[in-house]
Amino acid sequence: MTPETAYAEAMKFENRANPYPFFDELRKTPVARVANGIYAVTGYRELMTLAHDPRVSSDTSHSPLGAASAAGAKAEADHMKAYGRAKSMITSDPPDHDRMRRQAMRHFGPPHTPDLIESMGSDIQLLCNRLLDKAKGKTRIDIVDDYAYPVPVAVICKILGVPLKDEPTFHGWIYDFMAGLMDMGPEITTEEGKARAAKGKESTAALVQYLTELINRFVREPGESMLSKMVNDDGPDGPMAPRDAVANATLLLIAGHDSTVNTIAHCVLTVLRNPGSLELLRGRPELIPGAIEEVLRLESAVQFFPSRSALADIEIAGTVIPKGSAVFLIYGAANRDPSRFPNPNKFDPERRDNEHFGWGSGIHTCFGGPLARLEVNLALETFLRRAENSRLVVDPPPYRQSNVFRGPRHLFIDFDKIRD
Ligand code: HEM
Repeated sequence: MTPETAYAEAMKFENRANPYPFFDELRKTPVARVANGIYAVTGYRELMTLAHDPRVSSDTSHSPLGAASAAGAKAEADHMKAYGRAKSMITSDPPDHDRMRRQAMRHFGPPHTPDLIESMGSDIQLLCNRLLDKAKGKTRIDIVDDYAYPVPVAVICKILGVPLKDEPTFHGWIYDFMAGLMDMGPEITTEEGKARAAKGKESTAALVQYLTELINRFVREPGESMLSKMVNDDGPDGPMAPRDAVANATLLLIAGHDSTVNTIAHCVLTVLRNPGSLELLRGRPELIPGAIEEVLRLESAVQFFPSRSALADIEIAGTVIPKGSAVFLIYGAANRDPSRFPNPNKFDPERRDNEHFGWGSGIHTCFGGPLARLEVNLALETFLRRAENSRLVVDPPPYRQSNVFRGPRHLFIDFDKIRD
């Protein structure tokens, strides 16, 4: 199989549940030119090198990809035009990236805000319990819609100051954005794919408009939420400009729940797929944090992020990535590189030396990892403890359209009962 074919197969929707055999093929050429001037990086060592190379930019204005090729990031930039040109931290390079990340982090984590994440623990636990209480008397739930989604979305709304009552509205917009713009599969050139992209753009514009109004309100009437503090800050970097705040609010609202949903679902899926691991984790819950990292290695919720491009000719692994090419660091593939992880396709909740790319690597390493870890840990631990004799109804489950943010669309689970 040529790298081009392996890449196309891995990206196809019909292979969403298991792109890994194609990634194995693709990894035979760890840095390969695949399509439309895109270079796919699938070797662990090569990916680690490029994730830390300042000649690899995340600024979408350098990327050769057009809007049709989906960088939702590009659509985000397009829709920001009305509000002045702005990009979020994930689609910026230093120094803008570093400044925005500092301006946001001041109101999210240590050293300036050391207690916020921990203080969410009791809310998260309560939510998990409430959702399982609702399932009492039933014998089947959809882990995605009934459990994995409602927890992180409520948590990120509370942190950011986005009213949870608006969730039914922005849920649809984010769904369209993900399906239409965060998909790099070959289907994006079909009529259906183009219609999805058009709808994704429209919905992204609506989301940006909604968050613009919210940010404007926080500028007029400062409050205690993270977004409000970001635009009213008197810290060393000053307040975040409202246009940057809108771009970062969009990013934080989406990134702040979507990958967590996919990771909770993949945790339940992986544990139930692997006989013995449910009993192991239920009996020794101290193994759960390591098991979550192992799921992130095996089923990375962010498979890659399509914003990167080469600012110069970059020589690596016997290949030259020409200046101006798109560079896809495919975390999901490098996380199963056998030269780095022995038995890479095996779920080993006690795996040692598990430095995977599930959180990315380099300056764009996940901003919300500590919060996500807390959420996934409580959600998984509570489910394993309370659901008796749980089992998968369909394996593999149906997957969502996006191949950037990959996860099951539904995950139906049968159980005997929900314990108190
Ligand atoms: C299990 C859940 C999560 C996973 C697997 C995950 C994964 C990732 C990955 C792989 C990246 C790097 C993207 C790149 O290469 O450009 C990233 C970036 C980011 N994540 Fe997460 N994430 C999760 C949860 C969260 C949460 C809860 C938040 C917010 C509270 C968040 C906010 C962000 C932001 C803002 C960035 C961009 C950071 C930057 O550009 O400096 N993520 N995430």
